[in-house]
Amino acid sequence: MIPKTIERVGSSIRLIAQTKLPLEMTYLEITDYKDIIGAIKRLDVRGAPAIGIAAAYGLALAVEHADSITPEYITKVADEIKAARPTAVNLVWAVDRVLKRLANENRVSKADIAALFWDEAEKIHEEDRRLCKNIGLNGAELIRDGDSILTHCNAGALATGGIGTALAVIYTCQEQGKKIKVYADETRPLLQGARLTSWELMQAGIDVTLLCDNAAATLMRQRSVDHVIVGADRIVANGDFANKIGTYPVAVMAREHGVPFYVAAPYSTFDQQIPSGRDIVIEMRAPEEVTEGFGKRTAPEGVNVFSPAFDVTPHELVTYYITDEGLTPGGRKK
Ligand code: MRU
Repeated sequence: MIPKTIERVGSSIRLIAQTKLPLEMTYLEITDYKDIIGAIKRLDVRGAPAIGIAAAYGLALAVEHADSITPEYITKVADEIKAARPTAVNLVWAVDRVLKRLANENRVSKADIAALFWDEAEKIHEEDRRLCKNIGLNGAELIRDGDSILTHCNAGALATGGIGTALAVIYTCQEQGKKIKVYADETRPLLQGARLTSWELMQAGIDVTLLCDNAAATLMRQRSVDHVIVGADRIVANGDFANKIGTYPVAVMAREHGVPFYVAAPYSTFDQQIPSGRDIVIEMRAPEEVTEGFGKRTAPEGVNVFSPAFDVTPHELVTYYITDEGLTPGGRKK
């Protein structure tokens, strides 16, 4: 069973409340676009493609549920939504795509603009389903029956409108009858690997083993990992990419141990405007997520905390980019 992460229900949006997983499978029913922004900030909806889709639906909600609208109102809402999280380019990409459609079509009434926004948001959602499927098919070419794959964070159905990016490769291999073993990094501090990836793979009947992030090198040294596949939040012009904090050390370890390292992402995650990874804005998270995550204090009161949500992996560490269009070699030489 692949979960429906985001769904339009009439004039509202239903999101899986991902902060509650895996203990509770509950949904948020949202009609106010400000609650979409809140859900993105809190990580109830997360993962680059999923926050793009939620953002597009957020614009539709903002018009649908306003008493009246002006061009200034739409610009203000769009700017607020884009500012929810800074690193994943899909958020800005999706909002700009909806606005561009409005600029290209002559719609004036609130009802007409709402209909246009819903339509474009649904197109983005539907397109993401197809992109995920193609990523899965392209990536599966790299994987043989019996291989083991290590992944970091959650780049699965919970992070997209379809079957995921990194995890799409795994689901596709399963469909092709290949037996795959998955290792899921727990992903400190918010445990997307432990709470989400292992849950989602178990729902689908995939053989998954959870490990603490700092156990990955040992696993590679034991020759237990054949491939690493991760997702991305932004892939810039030179091929450097941002993904969940802890991805960069996995890429370094993979090169050290001769394990191929792949990044799986749709075209909507590529950003040609930024020349290199040094220029990617990295979101910083609240210290409490490290010192008292999930309600339990694990560090002294008042300690200084460094908590970037993402890191940047240089293109020299990438073996292949797996996209909806095919496989592109990265800059890694061995
Ligand atoms: O902070 P998160 O949970 O939104 O981080 C998500 C990731 O880093 C994913 O790997 C990335 O967005 C790709 S999702 C297909």
